[in-house]
Amino acid sequence: MTDVIDGDAVAADIRTEIADCVETLTDAGVEPGLATVLMSDDPASETYVSMKQRDCEEVGIEGIHVEVDPEAPAEELYATIDELNADDAVHGILVQLPVPDHVDEREVLRRISPAKDVDGFHPENVGRLVAGNARFKPCTPHGVLKLLEAYDVETEGADAVVVGRSDIVGKPMANLLIQKAPQGNATVTVCHSRTDDLTSHTRNADIVIAAVGIPEFIDGSMIQEGATVIDVGVNRVEADDGEGTTLVGDVEYDSAADVAGAITPVPGGVGPMTRAMLLYNTVKAAGLQTDVDVELP
Ligand SMILES: NC(=O)c1ccc[n+]([C@@H]2O[C@H](COP(=O)([O-])OP(=O)(O)OC[C@H]3O[C@@H](n4cnc5c(N)ncnc54)[C@H](OP(=O)(O)O)[C@@H]3O)[C@@H](O)[C@H]2O)c1
Repeated sequence: MTDVIDGDAVAADIRTEIADCVETLTDAGVEPGLATVLMSDDPASETYVSMKQRDCEEVGIEGIHVEVDPEAPAEELYATIDELNADDAVHGILVQLPVPDHVDEREVLRRISPAKDVDGFHPENVGRLVAGNARFKPCTPHGVLKLLEAYDVETEGADAVVVGRSDIVGKPMANLLIQKAPQGNATVTVCHSRTDDLTSHTRNADIVIAAVGIPEFIDGSMIQEGATVIDVGVNRVEADDGEGTTLVGDVEYDSAADVAGAITPVPGGVGPMTRAMLLYNTVKAAGLQTDVDVELP
């Protein structure tokens, strides 16, 4: 029997606990605030940002939204970040990526105060994570760890294969899984587009984490019987009936579910966890900045 890992349910539990953290903060006179910054007119980015604002509202975090004209000079975005860094009502800052081509993304990530960097992409926070002293774990890989924990998937001693080596998913995912820590202690292989014979790696894995960005790229023939399959991918494709579009992951769900011991669906797997862990990082940031003890889930 394959376990379907219910990210919606795990994320809902985490949001309930985060709402308690928000109450602890407000009782201590701190109203946690998350600023989202959008410099794009891409409808997908607009949707992501509005979902994040809605999530904040649900748990009682003050959402502050700033839009920068996508045609404006990069300095306008940098100045916005500087203002938010200096604003005591803002505990977390998230600049929705990607930024326009004329803006240096690395400079954007460096510019956000590491104490408010709730995405965990600032070089200081990346370094801390690698060193085993994370301040903010990036939301998607952190959400994956929470799913593994919720479903009692043992990582210690497990062979884990991460397919994808992006800075936002693959690399931090691998770095978290190798930590000498709970939900760590795995033996991790990172695969990418230059990997020779990908299947020879995935088929030996106890845990496969797919973050490739190619619809249904990994199928059941690439999975070991009983393995845990975590599908990070979100790809919009034409619907089978030719009517509109639908979302699929990087894993071919049906064939993988036939052999996997546990698997995340798309949607309803990793996606809701990414959103929940942003709220987690925001209350953590507010607690750290104000010296209020919050009991994080
Ligand atoms: N659910 C969520 O909350 C969430 C969050 C973030 C991302 N996502 C989704 O997760 C997916 C990955 O995102 P990302 O930002 O990590 O993507 P990305 O930056 O495009 O990275 C994709 C990775 O896949 C590797 N790759 C490409 N073709 C491959 C192949 N044929 N064999 C093996 N590896 C291959 C690439 O290798 P190279 O490095 O060699 O190019 C790269 O490392 C996307 O579908 C994205 O939409 C979901």
